[in-house]
Amino acid sequence: MEEGYELFEEVPSIGDYRRLREVAGLSPKSAEAAAAGLPNTHFAVVVKKDGHVVGMGRVIGDGGLFFQVVDIAVEPVHQGRGLGKAIVGRLVEHLKATAPAGAYVSLIADGEAHRLYAQFGFQPTAPRSIGMSLTLR
Ligand SMILES: CC(C)(COP(=O)(O)OP(=O)(O)OC[C@H]1O[C@@H](n2cnc3c(N)ncnc32)[C@H](O)[C@@H]1OP(=O)(O)O)[C@@H](O)C(=O)NCCC(=O)NCCS
Repeated sequence: MEEGYELFEEVPSIGDYRRLREVAGLSPKSAEAAAAGLPNTHFAVVVKKDGHVVGMGRVIGDGGLFFQVVDIAVEPVHQGRGLGKAIVGRLVEHLKATAPAGAYVSLIADGEAHRLYAQFGFQPTAPRSIGMSLTLR
């Protein structure tokens, strides 16, 4: 991560969470949904520059068996400076240090982001299995 950026083990605020998802091009989330979900975060980090949150990443899960990496986002003007790698690296480091052996950590990689996750050991589930999703309306 370039100089001037600092990583904190911290759940993003509802405002930062919604703003970062939007500017990074992820689907928008309501304040109500964020207020319900964020307090149940298993582990999260934010990256700040001059006190301002410019990146985030979260792990959700049951604390023992299954975990999911979600909400990996960096403000576009701060992309390409190692923030994404620092965020995912810290999440994986935390899981390796705390999760029981055999824990299953999954994620859905958008676009080219699979190249980022592959650097930390994530492998495609296909063709053995297919990730599936359902968005409730
Ligand atoms: C994905 C994202 C968080 C990466 O953040 P970043 O700070 O730009 O990433 P880094 O600078 O740490 O570099 C990421 C690494 O993955 C590689 N990579 C290649 N294409 C990439 C891409 N389109 N997106 C992310 N990483 C990419 C980079 O080359 C780099 O590795 P390298 O230094 O060995 O070349 C950021 O691009 C982003 O917020 N994207 C929009 C939201 C999104 O798609 N989130 C992921 C949802 S699954």
